[in-house]
This record gives sequence, C-alpha cells and structure tokens, in this order.
Amino acid sequence: MKESSRRGFMGKVLGAVAGLGAIGSLVAMKKSWDPLPSVKAAGFITLDMSVYVDNELVTKEWRKKPIFIMKKSAEALKKQTQEQSARDVVVDGNSYMVAIGLCTHLGCIPAYKKAEEEFLCACHGATFDSSGQVTKLPAPRGLDIPPFKIDGSNLILGEVGPEWQKMKDNGITL
Ligand code: FES
Repeated sequence: MKESSRRGFMGKVLGAVAGLGAIGSLVAMKKSWDPLPSVKAAGFITLDMSVYVDNELVTKEWRKKPIFIMKKSAEALKKQTQEQSARDVVVDGNSYMVAIGLCTHLGCIPAYKKAEEEFLCACHGATFDSSGQVTKLPAPRGLDIPPFKIDGSNLILGEVGPEWQKMKDNGITL
C-alpha cells in the first residue's frame, strides 16, 4: 500500500471509531437523563380492577403510600347517600372505594372495621365510612383519592383522568 493511501485508510478508520465513540457518548448521556426504572415504576401503577371481590378491603402501595381499594356490592350501593356515591370510582360498570390510606388529621393509617363498615384511626379517634368520608373529627376531611385514569378494566394510579379531575374540581378530594 502506498504511503498516501495508507494514510487515507487510517484516517477513515479513525473517523469511524470517533463516530462510534460520539454515538456511544450520546446514548450514555440520554440514559443519564432518563428517570431510573425504579423512579418510573414508583410514579404510576396499573391495577386490574376485575380481580377484586365485593366488600373486601385490599391495600396496595403507590408512591410509598397505602392505597385502600374496596369493590362495593350491589347492597352497599343501594344504601349509599349521594355524597358517598360521588366518591365512587366506577371501572367497567363496577363501583370501588379508592383512597389514600392515611388519616387526613396527622397521617396515621386507619384500620378497617368490617362489622361497623368504617375506618377507625387509632391515633386520635377519627372515623371514616366505607366510602372514605369523614364521620368523626379530628380528621378535617375524608380520605384523599389518588389521581387516577381509567383504561378499560384497569385503573392507572398516578395519571390524571377526567373522572378524577371532576372529583377534584368538585372538592371531593385535594
Ligand atoms: S392522625 Fe388520625 S385522628 Fe389524628
């Protein structure tokens, strides 16, 4: 190989290597900008609401907070007041109580008393009904409802859908 063509060949090889290096750096930079998978996962959770059974309280975790979920039976729906119904999350024709399981007084986790159909906060005695409405002070308001979006039979916690926005606009949740 002549000296000039060898130099040309080496130049192309070095150029290609430098190009690959630049692409590698860009990929690495992009990765460092993206949220970590754990952060992404903590932001949203998708719940398949079809698996829940009537009147059974299930506690899930979302953004390190307990989330109370309870599917309402036909009998429970018949007994409800308008205010209680306004808090229902309706997914695929079924109604659920969905609430952040932290007392709105100072943040203790209320316990569900199935026989009384109410939540009791042992810290200072506040109670909430099975819809999450406050029934006894000192809690200043009902249990908060986490932002949600309905997608078929799934509920995506952490995304704002029109149903949650309406609740917020109507002062049902913060
Ligand atoms: S934290 Fe629940 S009543 Fe005080």
